[in-house]
Amino acid sequence: MQETRNGDAMKTGIASIGIQFPPLAMPVEDLARLRGEDPNKYTVGLGCKEMALCPSDYGVVELAVQAARRAIERWGGSLDDIGLIAVGTETSVDMSRPLSAWVASELGIKGAIRSYEVKHACYGGTLALRQAVEWRLSGAARGKSALVIASDVSLYAQGDPGEPTQGAGAVAMIVGEPLIAEIDPISYAYSEPAFDFWRPVGHDYPLVEGPLSLECYQRATSECFSALIGDNDPEEFLRGFAALCFHVPFPKMVKKAVQRLGESFGWDEATTRFFFEEKVDPTMSWNRRCGNAYTAALWISVAQTLKGLREGERITAFSYGSGFGAELLVLRAGPLAKRGEWANDVEGDFKRRSQIDAKAYAELRA
Ligand code: CAA
Repeated sequence: MQETRNGDAMKTGIASIGIQFPPLAMPVEDLARLRGEDPNKYTVGLGCKEMALCPSDYGVVELAVQAARRAIERWGGSLDDIGLIAVGTETSVDMSRPLSAWVASELGIKGAIRSYEVKHACYGGTLALRQAVEWRLSGAARGKSALVIASDVSLYAQGDPGEPTQGAGAVAMIVGEPLIAEIDPISYAYSEPAFDFWRPVGHDYPLVEGPLSLECYQRATSECFSALIGDNDPEEFLRGFAALCFHVPFPKMVKKAVQRLGESFGWDEATTRFFFEEKVDPTMSWNRRCGNAYTAALWISVAQTLKGLREGERITAFSYGSGFGAELLVLRAGPLAKRGEWANDVEGDFKRRSQIDAKAYAELRA
């Protein structure tokens, strides 16, 4: 690991966060009525609440650019201090030109900068973040910071079982001084090739093997957490974290993953319930208001959870991307976590956005 001049290990992490949600939303109960489903299936069965939606002239680029603008403004650093822009997305607008080029063009960033897009389904944002962290720790960054963005619009074919889980959003992070959170250099990755959720070239919507995708997600959770916990007692070890954040395709998926973890650790029902209710469920409030934002989903949960943490408190972040790849990260809150200024982005966007009804949704999809 890179060392500072006085020999301390160099620390790196999140220096600033900016978040952007699109200007429309619809409660999932309205979609249930449109599709002739019992609304409880979506609210209780899947744990969903609202879907964030984009108007026809708005999309993944606008989300990424605005989130980045907010992160840079809050950071207060100079654009000259950015040496890397990496955007994780599975809503690519071009097979060749990276989404980072649209962001750089809008923000007027050019020069000695590595700029690229990262794809691995919902895991792409985490990979971009890990690359930025490792770039800093390797010394290759030569003191520069990175702009990392996770931006996605999740849409399924009309009537698809995944439709109530739709959503959108972007999280931008400046990776540099660990003012908001330090990111542990060691992380726990696991991957296995599978066709659980994929979108072939030319297809507007993903193809999904629903039950297989649930199984892959749960297996990845068990593998990554077992690697983190090692020979420690799982309950005692995990109690040491203020919260456990997960990729949130829909909240029930996360509950199922925690149940699987409990089973693999041999926990009784009360212990599993304690972990879900105290350490996991509270991390998904923003996700319930925006639906699945693919690459951004985990980082929306992490951003919500970091807000208000005392310096030194630790959380985990579990990333999952279909195909499939997963990685578990450990973050330690920095001095700016408590203020949680990025919550203003979220509260403002949720307050300003328009709620559309089923008729307007049908027109939008048409
Ligand atoms: N009242 C209350 N609950 C009800 C109900 C009712 N009237 N009707 C059904 N339910 C419950 C069911 O019992 C079920 O709960 P349990 O799983 O706890 O038993 C739940 O509602 C869902 O019902 P179904 O299993 O029948 O749901 P479905 O087959 O229609 O759709 C899904 C579920 C396949 C996961 C679908 O949402 C989907 O395709 N989603 C996209 C894929 C996905 O998100 N996979 C997650 C892992 S992959 C990943 O993480 C990457 C990513 O972001 C996509």
